[in-house]
Amino acid sequence: PVYQKTVSAPVNIAVIKYWGKRDVGLNLPSNSSLSVTLSQNDLRTLTTASCSAAFEEDSLWLNGAMESMCESPRLSVCVRELRKSRLELEAKNESLEKIANYKLRVVSENNFPTAAGLASSAAGFAAFAQAICALYELPWTPTELSRVARQGSGSACRSLFGGYVSWEMGEQPTGADSVAVQVAPVEHWPEMRVAILVVSAAKKGVSSTAGMQATVATSSLFAERARNVVPQRMVEMKNAIRARDFASFAQLTMKDSNQFHAVCLDTTPPIFYLNDTSRAIIRAVESINSSVNGYAAAYTFDAGPNAVIYFLEKDSDLVLTTLRSVTQNAEGWEKADFKPVESSEFLNLEPTVIDTISSGVSRVILTRVGDGPQVLPDT
Ligand code: DP6
Repeated sequence: PVYQKTVSAPVNIAVIKYWGKRDVGLNLPSNSSLSVTLSQNDLRTLTTASCSAAFEEDSLWLNGAMESMCESPRLSVCVRELRKSRLELEAKNESLEKIANYKLRVVSENNFPTAAGLASSAAGFAAFAQAICALYELPWTPTELSRVARQGSGSACRSLFGGYVSWEMGEQPTGADSVAVQVAPVEHWPEMRVAILVVSAAKKGVSSTAGMQATVATSSLFAERARNVVPQRMVEMKNAIRARDFASFAQLTMKDSNQFHAVCLDTTPPIFYLNDTSRAIIRAVESINSSVNGYAAAYTFDAGPNAVIYFLEKDSDLVLTTLRSVTQNAEGWEKADFKPVESSEFLNLEPTVIDTISSGVSRVILTRVGDGPQVLPDT
């Protein structure tokens, strides 16, 4: 027989960024981080893990292309840990099928174009770990599983929960306490909306793994950030989320994105992830916020030029009208559900800024905060 389980896992976008490893082998971060999980209706990875005595080797299919599992140390490490736990479970429980040593076949697909240039490694590794965990019937909590997913890709550990999620850096050299925990579920603050402005569909120039290592080795600003900025910011961000205080959430999110990119610039040789379009989007968001004399939107950028904008449902007419007026030609607006408002009063942008955004943004993805991984019913 073939044993099989299918799961789906979400994308997450950090508002306090993970950047820098204190242990490369165990993939332990230099600072804690915090993210919002995005709805799987719009972005998700669907992964089926199966095993059988008839399979000849471990194999992985990513969006239809076969990848070698043993050539990826990150995948191997996850598989090794999950297999070991299944073996222990089989040893304890005589009635369980002996499947731990069967070869695995993992088939993984994204419901969004890989070409959209979105970080898919977080959803990908979260789905990978969750699918094998379900197949092996390991009685693990998401926090326990996050320890395994973290070793695949750091940001993946945060995709094991829905809502608002922190990755606590931990203290132990083994990494046993470097895990993800839920700060608040979706229902706590369900009004959070997200617009992703796809600026470039190209693969990023400097991978996050390589970029972080260069930063740790050469940036003095980085040490200051990890030691003296992020710990306090984590506390403030958790408080903002618990209090549903969007102004503080927005302020901290933008500051942290900007400091992350400053640290990249402080790396030798410097790493540039933002481009002219990214910077023009920052100007547009700043102008939305000035128009309300406060905070209606917050931008954040990962290791690439794409912008992720957070805003509350109550401000969506204002935020989306502004974004739409500067990205007329982008795909994806047909899904928008909002009443256009008169934008001229708040849109005080120079024509060059508008031109840069409208020629630079190819696609818009509108989504919201969402739930954690789901194990799909057997078919
Ligand atoms: C800028 O999780 O991709 O998106 O652990 O080396 O796989 P590895 O790095 P990865 O880094 C993500 C960096 C980031 C910020 C974040 O998501 O916190």
